[in-house]
Amino acid sequence: MKRDAIGKILVQQDDLQHRVGELAQEISNDYKGEEVFLVAILKGAMFFIADLMRQLQIPAQVDFMSVASYGAATGSSGVVRILKDLDSSIEDRRVLIVEDIVDSGLTVNYLLRSLQARNPASLDVCTLLNKIERRQVELPMRYVGFEIPNKFVIGYGLDLDQYYRQLPYIAELKDQEK
Ligand code: IMP
Repeated sequence: MKRDAIGKILVQQDDLQHRVGELAQEISNDYKGEEVFLVAILKGAMFFIADLMRQLQIPAQVDFMSVASYGAATGSSGVVRILKDLDSSIEDRRVLIVEDIVDSGLTVNYLLRSLQARNPASLDVCTLLNKIERRQVELPMRYVGFEIPNKFVIGYGLDLDQYYRQLPYIAELKDQEK
């Protein structure tokens, strides 16, 4: 495996697993007696959704969307396009968007607008990581795993040019100036 970009570990494997368990518990309590329709955003949320969903104690379905933002590899332009849409309707479903990281917020902002137009019964966001310093739009975020500083991070699904997703922890990139 490529190792040259791996910097300081920001969230250890055990802490990830522990926090994902807490989020699953919180979601299970909040949706008690109901069902949740998880919309996982590929590819970054792949491990998060797998770990989160396995710990939910309520009936749950999952579907996947893949979106891309035009722009540089480590930035976000705000122009989002759908590469893969949901397979099924979310009308009258209680929908929870499951994201790896919210950075500028432009991607989730776009997803919220796009999914809201399909008339779900409810629509909320669960993100593993939140880079609040970089936020450009105000967003309602119901579940947040970890607040992280303004650093580019890799691992547990998050990539640098499609590499490093397999790391079991979240690490900073090596030699980041800020
Ligand atoms: P936003 O639209 O700026 O909120 O960016 C969201 C998307 O950018 C995420 O779903 C990630 O795919 C990507 N992204 C943002 N920050 C990072 C990071 O630190 N590491 C890896 N991907 C990131």
